Amino acid sequence: MSSLLVDNIGELVTNTPGAGGGGPLGLRRHVALLVEDGLVAWIGPTRDAPAADRRIDAGGAAVLPGFVDSHAHLVFAGDRAVEFAARMAGEPYTGGGIRTTVGATRAASDDELRATVRRLRGEAMRQGTTTVEIKSGYGLTVADEARSLRIAAEFTEDTTFLGAHVVPAEYADRPDDYVGMVCGPMLAAAAPYARWIDVFCERGAFDVDHARAILACGQAVGLGVRLHANQLGPGPGVQLGVELGAASVDHCTHLTDADVDALASTAAEDGGTTTVATLLPGAEFSTRSPYPDARRLLDAGVTVALATDCNPGSSYTSSMPFCIALAVREMRMTPAEAVWAATAGGAAALRRADVGRLARGARADLMILDAPSHLHLAYRPGVPLIRQVLRNGVPQCRP
Ligand code: NIG
Ligand code: FE
Repeated sequence: MSSLLVDNIGELVTNTPGAGGGGPLGLRRHVALLVEDGLVAWIGPTRDAPAADRRIDAGGAAVLPGFVDSHAHLVFAGDRAVEFAARMAGEPYTGGGIRTTVGATRAASDDELRATVRRLRGEAMRQGTTTVEIKSGYGLTVADEARSLRIAAEFTEDTTFLGAHVVPAEYADRPDDYVGMVCGPMLAAAAPYARWIDVFCERGAFDVDHARAILACGQAVGLGVRLHANQLGPGPGVQLGVELGAASVDHCTHLTDADVDALASTAAEDGGTTTVATLLPGAEFSTRSPYPDARRLLDAGVTVALATDCNPGSSYTSSMPFCIALAVREMRMTPAEAVWAATAGGAAALRRADVGRLARGARADLMILDAPSHLHLAYRPGVPLIRQVLRNGVPQCRP
């Protein structure tokens, strides 16, 4: 059994409120953390720290659970920088560019797609992300969706089948046939590599009846439900997610009071049935759109997660610290709420109890900041504050 002591921690975010106080982040000060076989084995005052095979001196800095990025589209080819520039010059975002990326992705080799996922996964890791969900959705043929998920599964346990991202051009005049294909041969080919199923439920993508049918087919073969909902305008997506017991409804930019109430009602329940509202402020930033009203959701008692939505169209960032800074500055989340949402919130959105918190038995996924407190993540935007990342207790790259 190998052991590692992270010693001399000035501020530890545990996300375990019972474990020593410190509000929802469960902050503890002047502690050490012992890792055994990739798991947290002990947390206690520095002076009581046990001996270990190896030691990392945190030097009084803050230590946090690794970020859990619960929404990312990393399997694609090409980029859409020109589309971004046009938006910044006044063009609206409609999602129409998805088909451009579908064309490039279909034309790419497996190794090209794998290299892109590896590059973005590395970027994210250097910025503190230790768990990332990865969606398909830029293949949109049976073979291209299956290979997207097969490649995604090389990098994460949390793979999501998004064959219903948009109706591809070759099915443009027969969307019912495409939905039938998604529910039939495409799902059959994708399911062995997927944990989740997702649908882009939005005007111009899939309507609520198509979305319900596709998600029900996924549930029937054992996939968990999540969906893109209420991004570009109000609609039935959030209510559908609650109806189906989705782990998360993502974007939530345009919500009615009834949507907020429906989400809040799930948070009051017990037993892992919460539907999390996952907010993706990188998308509003990159499409110059109004941000979702995080304050309204939090004040209603909804469980909120933050994620990057990393994709070449609407949000080409892999940076959770950037999303935290946006959430605090633009969405009126407190720094503590934003840090919780980027760690424990993401874990809740993926229904994972082993990550997003630092307590005995949790995975030793953590980051040491070049800063004394979690507050600095929003207070010092754009600054590379992640000094070191451990995943399963193993030191990853230093920036
Ligand atoms: O989550 N909204 C749908 N899908 C992505 C955007 C994909 C794209 O523009 O390529 C999103 O924002
Ligand atoms: Fe997305």
